[in-house]
Amino acid sequence: MYTDIAAAGLQGRNFLSTQDWSVDELETLFSIASRLKADRAAGVPTRLLEDKTLYMIFFDSSTRTRTSFETGMTQLGGHGIYLSPDRMQISHGENARDTANVLSRYGEAIAIRHCAFGEGNAYLSEVAEHASVPVLSMQCDVYHPCQILADYLTIRGEFGKTRGRKLGVARTSAPNYARPIAVPQSLILMMPRFGIDVTLAYPPEFRLLPEIEEQARANAEAAGASFEITHRFEDAFEDADVVIPKSWGPLVHTRDHEEGIRLIEAYPEWRCDSERMALGNDHMLYMHPLPADRGREVTDEVIDGPQSVVYDEAENRLHVQKALMSLTM
Ligand code: CP
Repeated sequence: MYTDIAAAGLQGRNFLSTQDWSVDELETLFSIASRLKADRAAGVPTRLLEDKTLYMIFFDSSTRTRTSFETGMTQLGGHGIYLSPDRMQISHGENARDTANVLSRYGEAIAIRHCAFGEGNAYLSEVAEHASVPVLSMQCDVYHPCQILADYLTIRGEFGKTRGRKLGVARTSAPNYARPIAVPQSLILMMPRFGIDVTLAYPPEFRLLPEIEEQARANAEAAGASFEITHRFEDAFEDADVVIPKSWGPLVHTRDHEEGIRLIEAYPEWRCDSERMALGNDHMLYMHPLPADRGREVTDEVIDGPQSVVYDEAENRLHVQKALMSLTM
């Protein structure tokens, strides 16, 4: 049933961004994820990683990512170990090289979440440079690739064929702090590669990294899909098949905290409600990686409504990550 895992030749590969994997390699991952999901539902054991260990280093908090990776390792017959830098020698200055080398001597993969803007991706890349086992991103400041794998599996599960579908990615307003830009960046990079037309909507100060927007354009052109940027919230919803309205901060525009908070508060009308949902196709899906700021980003009516698939989306984290670990470890 899983003989294609070894044949895929992905053992030992890092996964820091979907951009590093070809569409064929990602298709293999989705195929295995779908089988793992079906086997899980049928109660069929899938102990593909017996006696293997995954180290999970979390510089930032998590509900879904930690539990889905750790549960995934349990279901695959291996073990996931949660590590927090403040309880590791990282807190006393141990560098990425030493951490990578030592963990590589014990286990079969290192997964890291490090979202500090301007630091996270550099740290993951440094660990990957020195580790002799695969390094898997659990989100950095630039990418959240596992989230986007789950999002794609969810969309494909709902629609089957994805080419020609319209996805709206819209920045919403959420209080207190500037949320990372990793999710929208990963969405605009990967979805066009699967033929999905993407409309990205944000107020001008909330732009994404220029090189990521440029890469998304190139990906869309190569795949015969479209990628558009707009500063009108409703454009993400109109005639869309899927909408992912999600908060992120003006991190590319300003690193000043006070200025960032002022800008976040400047667009309260960027909120997903039933009027906006009515602009999309009748079957349009509402998705969100969670956690969502209910009332600010989205009304309860929408997130708890019939078009919302947020819990399916969260569940799919488990299945895609099991496929990812089975392939790379
Ligand atoms: N979507 C997501 O990554 O959730 P957590 O921050 O809870 O892991």
